[in-house]
Amino acid sequence: MSAWPSTPAEKLTRLFRGFWVSQAIYVAAQLGLADLVADGPRSVADLASAAGAHAPTLRRVLRLLAGEGIFAEAEDGRFELTPMAAPLLREKGELRLQVLFVGRQASWQAAGDLLHAVKTGETPFDHVHGASFFESLRQHPDEAQLFDQLMVVNTTPVARAVAGAYDFSSVRTIIDVGGGRGALALGILAVHPQLRGIVFDQPAVAAGAREAIAAAGLSERCEAVGGDFFEAVPEGGDAYLVKFILHDWDDERSVAILRTCRRAIPARGRLLVVEFVIGHGNEPSFARTQDMNMLINLGGQERTEAEYRALFEAAGFALTRTIPVFGDIRIIEGVPAAG
Ligand SMILES: C[S@@+](CC[C@H](N)C(=O)[O-])C[C@H]1O[C@@H](n2cnc3c(N)ncnc32)[C@H](O)[C@@H]1O
Repeated sequence: MSAWPSTPAEKLTRLFRGFWVSQAIYVAAQLGLADLVADGPRSVADLASAAGAHAPTLRRVLRLLAGEGIFAEAEDGRFELTPMAAPLLREKGELRLQVLFVGRQASWQAAGDLLHAVKTGETPFDHVHGASFFESLRQHPDEAQLFDQLMVVNTTPVARAVAGAYDFSSVRTIIDVGGGRGALALGILAVHPQLRGIVFDQPAVAAGAREAIAAAGLSERCEAVGGDFFEAVPEGGDAYLVKFILHDWDDERSVAILRTCRRAIPARGRLLVVEFVIGHGNEPSFARTQDMNMLINLGGQERTEAEYRALFEAAGFALTRTIPVFGDIRIIEGVPAAG
């Protein structure tokens, strides 16, 4: 059999048809197929009965995935786990949650509206659903729960890297602005015992942070505060951490968030934005796919260092340096600008 794809047109065809593969990966994650074959290969009939699925259809989905290296079909027709299917195991966490969240109906439908977005500049999610991403999460607690969980598993390794990459020795209090359930603050506090922290987020999310802080045994050193970062953020921190927040918003809203931080930060304070920083070049990059996620679902964007510098300046901060964390993620440090 000839290898497919080999010509440029075939490669383009495979990429274009990839949206069916995406949906098949989502189905596998929803049905928990990786866990079902974790202990060894199983027949499609067996899998279908365990997953509550229609066997002939499931076979075709598995066959497509096997062609991509996600599960493999043995000689006897049974399907087994492969290294590319393993991240879908429940115990693995991050990637499985990402597939469940990004593949869900609300996000899938928004992705189908990209052409309208490119013609008008509107945000597909808002256009399709008549509500913004965060409004929609407030209306759908199950999806909000999944999102908050995803942010925790996604941020926990970044928190460890930030705790190691930045010199917190002269910092006493960190404020985690839009900190979700507090994975960043908790990860940093675990490594730096002199620190105290405040996790600030929308009231319902802050309630989840309070539980996470208690579960981590850090209630003595960390509290959760509910509020709206367009209105005000807690005052008096030495370092304001703003991770994966600005990329959710357009420039105007991002500057508004930074301005509330500027009002709260003392003159000696530091602003630590943690974000992907987009570079030049033609290589595929996770950050560029993440930029599409922001475009389609949130009306936000990933930015270059120069774009962050401009946001900082518009909000009364001076960008001092950027520090690599891992991959394309960097700490973008700022200080209150004089005047
Ligand atoms: C992409 S998540 C990032 C969470 C966390 N910083 C992290 O990196 O794990 C964006 C966060 O912003 C919060 N958020 C959205 N709108 C907000 C608002 N108006 N005031 C406070 N927090 C808000 C969300 O609840 C969510 O936790």
